[in-house]
Amino acid sequence: MKKDIGIGLLGLGTVGSGVAEVLVTRADSLAEQAGLSLILKKVLVRDVNKRRSVKVSTNLLTSHPEEVLSHPEVDIVIELIGGEHPAKEYIEQAITNGRYVVTANKEVMAKHGYELLSLAGKHNADLRYEASVGSGIPLISSFQQDLAANKISAIHAILNGTTNYILTRMAQEGLDFASTLKQAQELGYVETDPANDIEGIDAAYKLVILSNLAFRSKFVPQDVYREGISNIAARDFLYAKEFGYAIKLLAIAKRADDKVEMRVHPVFIPQDSQLAKVDGVYNAVEVETDLAGKLVFYGEGAGALRASSAVMADVLAIARNIYRGVNNVPELRLNQRVTVKPMSEVTTRYYLRLNAPDRPCVLAQISQVLGDNSISISSVIQKESDLAAQTAIIVIMTYPAEEKGIQKALKQLRQLPVVNEVSNFIRVEV
Ligand code: NAP
Ligand code: HSE
Repeated sequence: MKKDIGIGLLGLGTVGSGVAEVLVTRADSLAEQAGLSLILKKVLVRDVNKRRSVKVSTNLLTSHPEEVLSHPEVDIVIELIGGEHPAKEYIEQAITNGRYVVTANKEVMAKHGYELLSLAGKHNADLRYEASVGSGIPLISSFQQDLAANKISAIHAILNGTTNYILTRMAQEGLDFASTLKQAQELGYVETDPANDIEGIDAAYKLVILSNLAFRSKFVPQDVYREGISNIAARDFLYAKEFGYAIKLLAIAKRADDKVEMRVHPVFIPQDSQLAKVDGVYNAVEVETDLAGKLVFYGEGAGALRASSAVMADVLAIARNIYRGVNNVPELRLNQRVTVKPMSEVTTRYYLRLNAPDRPCVLAQISQVLGDNSISISSVIQKESDLAAQTAIIVIMTYPAEEKGIQKALKQLRQLPVVNEVSNFIRVEV
């Protein structure tokens, strides 16, 4: 008979500290739910001498991965070191050593999820990753279990709190991108490499994880078309508002027949839509299903306690199975038919902001280029004429058109003598 369930922790940073704290402060309630006590046996860190925000006995700390991965009393390894390497190798080693694994690592799960889940299946070991998307918002288990009978046709999501915070401040206070990014960094929201947030890399990882569950596929981050938010200027928010839109960085996956389009980029969305009202560091995921209808999951997508809620849910699910002596490793059943739809075939509406000389026939030449590429204009306004320089800002909204048409038109507009600059181009999602 087992006396307790041994936990090995890889990482004692933001999330690791939250998890260690929950293991100690909620020990009784966790034991009641699991059937056995959950005992922290060993913790891997880089620097064992570093001051920690959480009280963990120094005897438990080690900088040698083997002391956690091969510890005879560790049943569940929780990977919270982040990044691709060596996290992936540690997860593999834990699985091949016969351990159950819980991870919050979106990068590893987006890049190697299928491979690791297959390995776990081969070793009858459960690998869970609820905290990897949306932290404490119950998404992975909802997609795996609660929506299993549904056909999912679309996901529209705000999956990165940092960029949503930046866009919210820019929209509400008219601030520019650079100063808002600096504020977000001072608040500790931005990842060590800001590109992960700003360029949509983090959101793309999370979209891959959700899409693989929604469409039973094995997509990878390269399958996602991606653009960041650094090109958005304060005046884009003003014009968006005038047309009745908000600007958000959305992660979008849509399935039509067996083709799935996946993209992360800034979009205009109607001001009265639910996602337009998601402000600050909050995350929200809107899912369109055939049986359950349209669902919206909403909450804080980062932070030690939020992530520890999801990590501990996974740990408890595994612990209950260990206690009951059952093996509950989900089988991977892929839908081999689904393929990625190339971005060039995606259809949306578009917002264009151009700088052009303020004189006759300019608009006619611009609309000629758009028309030649089968792009129909829905409205056009001329803004902020500069009398001295004799230039004007021209803002154009189009009807739906294929991406390959607009890209060709943009190239031609950039070469048109009557266009000084194509200052911005943002897709419109309705
Ligand atoms: P973090 O604060 O940077 O902590 C990382 C921890 O791992 C530190 O304790 C560090 O040791 C240790 N570590 C890193 N590389 C190591 C290595 N090669 N060998 C041994 N130890 C190593 O990271 P975090 O914010 O907690 O994030 C952890 C994971 O959770 C990531 O996958 C992240 O994407 C995910 N996640 C984070 C959040 C969030 O709000 N932060 C939310 C959801 C998911 P030292 O302390 O000695 O440096
Ligand atoms: N950098 C991420 C965000 C943290 O801003 O949402 C949570 O994954």
